[in-house]
Amino acid sequence: MGEIVQAAKITHVPSIWMSHTMPQHKGIRQNAIDGFAKLREEALAAGVDTFLIFDTHWIVNQGFHLNSKPRHQGRFISHELPHMLADMEYGYDGAPDLADLVVKEIQETGLKAMAHNQPDLGVEYGTLLPMHFINEGPIANVLPMAANQFSSIEENRIAGEAIARAIAKSDRKVAIYASGSLSHAFAPNEISSDYLNKVNGEFNRQMDLRVLDLWAEGRWEEFLDMLPAYAANCAGECGMVDTALLFGALGWEDYKGSCEIHTPYFGSSGTGQVNASFSLA
Ligand SMILES: [Fe+2]
Repeated sequence: MGEIVQAAKITHVPSIWMSHTMPQHKGIRQNAIDGFAKLREEALAAGVDTFLIFDTHWIVNQGFHLNSKPRHQGRFISHELPHMLADMEYGYDGAPDLADLVVKEIQETGLKAMAHNQPDLGVEYGTLLPMHFINEGPIANVLPMAANQFSSIEENRIAGEAIARAIAKSDRKVAIYASGSLSHAFAPNEISSDYLNKVNGEFNRQMDLRVLDLWAEGRWEEFLDMLPAYAANCAGECGMVDTALLFGALGWEDYKGSCEIHTPYFGSSGTGQVNASFSLA
């Protein structure tokens, strides 16, 4: 019987790649890279064999989609920020069996879901950037799942619960990662470079910090109650559906775990970022 053995909300900002590869930016995201190292240690200790990533850069408009290719391999450049993230080589085995199980379980809730084993379907950097660090080797298979920009938090709660049932029916030890921002208000273009290391707006920064306080105190019910308004008012990345999928899989208001911060809150191009791991019973 399969199980969720690791759960985390993770950052994927391209400035991490700048920190890693560009001498003029060396070290600016060392905290994020160190957080990835801690997530990797956790994954190894938990015996993770599959990373299921809710990727807010694989944005879809209808239904729930998984990339069920048996192999993800190539060389990546970001279309959104090609000056920040390019020349990233990757090669991971996929998890088609788990993709099919997730599709079946989501379909049984009445929601639409599909898995795609198509040679032309690539992988986005919400998956690739954290995997470059956490899954070096690699140590486990990778299953990317898309984020639907027109879906509700409630639909993603239901899909997340279905994902947990699918994992239980598999024979895999799965890490589920919500790869997305806290607040996500990119700085205006004319001042974008001033915001490389900042959050755009005190309201967003204060809301993010409040959310992290709620997480630290285990006040999950209050956080989940405010999640739709938080996503709407703080420009949630793809509506924060990644977070809804994650907490749906963890049991939503029944979740009783605790949160460990592996990378303290930081600003990047105006957005609020963190690496946080959620304990499992
Ligand atoms: Fe992003």
